[in-house]
Amino acid sequence: MSQTPFSTKHLTDEDAQAIATYLLEGDELLGNTVDPGAKRIVAAGLSNDAYADESYKTFANNCGACHGAKGEGREGIAPTLLGNSVFSLDDYYNSVAVVLRGLAPEYSGLEDGYMPMVSYEDQMTDAHIAGLVTFVRSHFGGQPETVTAQDVQAIRVSLDKGGFTPQFHKTAKRPERPESM
Ligand code: HEC
Repeated sequence: MSQTPFSTKHLTDEDAQAIATYLLEGDELLGNTVDPGAKRIVAAGLSNDAYADESYKTFANNCGACHGAKGEGREGIAPTLLGNSVFSLDDYYNSVAVVLRGLAPEYSGLEDGYMPMVSYEDQMTDAHIAGLVTFVRSHFGGQPETVTAQDVQAIRVSLDKGGFTPQFHKTAKRPERPESM
């Protein structure tokens, strides 16, 4: 029988808080405290300025229907994007890749009854995707670095080389999970 993978969404608020404190502050007893100079990432969500940004339209028209007009997520449809770890990684690769490829609802999605996330590989130009990804990473991920059309093009090439077939319902199959996991 296959088992549902562990999801941190089942933690109580108290447990999540304790884990967050541990991760943010470390553990003095074990001597693994966090470097006080470490970068703290703050995902502020959409400011008034953000709504005036040209890329907000791209976001609202393409992503908003499932993820909500503020990226807050919609129950039974798609998860929140605010503070999403895909967007808050220093490396923008996954942020671009998820837009290019879409995503099959294999993890939390199976339980939540999500439909698959569509692929935008043929729906948007590299420049559009670059603007959108810069926008969502900045507001939802706390990562203001600009992603360029050239960056998007390079990731298209790399995904093709990796054998990830784009397009809706045609994302590459992951290897089967062993039954015992
Ligand atoms: C048809 C509905 C739909 C649309 C439109 C959509 N998504 Fe999604 N998205 C989903 C679903 C469902 C998931 C969760 C899949 C899963 O993990 O089970 C998801 C997951 C994601 C994730 C990964 C979240 C995580 O925690 O793993 C990101 C990032 C994301 N979407 C960004 C976007 C962006 C940016 C757009 C617009 C270009 C967009 N999505 C459009 C349905 C959608």
